Amino acid sequence: MISVGLVGVGGWGKNHARVLYELGALGAICDTDRARADTYARKYGAKAYYDIESMISSANIQAVHICTPTKTHAEISKRLLEAGLDVFIEKPLADSVAKGKEIADFAAEKRRIVAVGYIERFNPSVMYLKELLQHQKLGSLLLAEFHRENRWNGIKDVGILLDTAVHDIDTARYIFAEEPIQVFARTGKVMGNYEDFAVIMLGFKDHRTAIITTNWVTPRKERKLTAVFTEGVVRIDFIQQEVRIDNALGSTIPYMETKEPLMLEINHFLDCVQKRSKPAVDAYDALKTSIIAEAASYSSAKGLPISLNV
Ligand SMILES: NC(=O)c1ccc[n+]([C@@H]2O[C@H](COP(=O)([O-])OP(=O)(O)OC[C@H]3O[C@@H](n4cnc5c(N)ncnc54)[C@H](O)[C@@H]3O)[C@@H](O)[C@H]2O)c1
Repeated sequence: MISVGLVGVGGWGKNHARVLYELGALGAICDTDRARADTYARKYGAKAYYDIESMISSANIQAVHICTPTKTHAEISKRLLEAGLDVFIEKPLADSVAKGKEIADFAAEKRRIVAVGYIERFNPSVMYLKELLQHQKLGSLLLAEFHRENRWNGIKDVGILLDTAVHDIDTARYIFAEEPIQVFARTGKVMGNYEDFAVIMLGFKDHRTAIITTNWVTPRKERKLTAVFTEGVVRIDFIQQEVRIDNALGSTIPYMETKEPLMLEINHFLDCVQKRSKPAVDAYDALKTSIIAEAASYSSAKGLPISLNV
């Protein structure tokens, strides 16, 4: 098993720490918040660092997970790639398309592996849907309607398009298995410095469409997808990992074993590092999601649909 470092052990990074520990791969924890680094390093028997330079120079690691705020992803990942390490970057790739492209190009130049944390690809319910699609069990996919809503009063360093909608943009690209040719979005803000509610319409060819509705206002956490096929409808609850299929024969809820998507995702990254293989979501793939999110922002600002050539 390889040894991995973790940069950023905050709200989400602490889940990476636990999973890496459970997989026997956690070698180092780095956080500028010393108390946090110490707490989790002690908890999981890893070495604590307070800046990436000291981790690079003294930890014996082959890869690093980056779970720091989005605005820091580009600088931290480029430094780690420069040091010859493979990286797992939490979504989104970066806070702009330009910085995301820098990461992708730099990793290609350095021949390092970059995986980006679009975790829904590892949600068993999405994996089930993808299988239905691949075997064309319900005909072809026409419409996908996503809801990703919950109350968020905290401070974020980017708005809901880059922070939250990107999950569903990625899943829409994944299930349609092609890139959208058009985006139209409306966004607004009621609480923070950035947009905190959005509706995005992604147009795929032949009028097939994804609608992404997301906000940080709804008090109850909801993460759902309704996929309309020519011969049935699939409803997914991402949180419950439940799939319901309605077609001419009636309704079925297939049995699915619940699995932790983060565990599957991290296992996949470690496997790619060991085998030197391409991750399910690499930097150039994640860059396409960033391009679409940035175009959605532009569409909302201009009040116009935007043509895409991703
Ligand atoms: N895949 C998912 O479902 C998911 C869920 C939540 C967050 N995320 C992503 O994870 C990332 C982190 O989000 P979060 O909510 O955990 O943020 P957070 O603010 O809770 O934690 C960030 C941590 O990084 C540390 N940090 C900041 N700059 C640092 C630096 N230069 N070096 C070392 N440590 C540094 C902070 O001290 C903090 O402990 C974001 O990119 C976010 O989009 C992904």
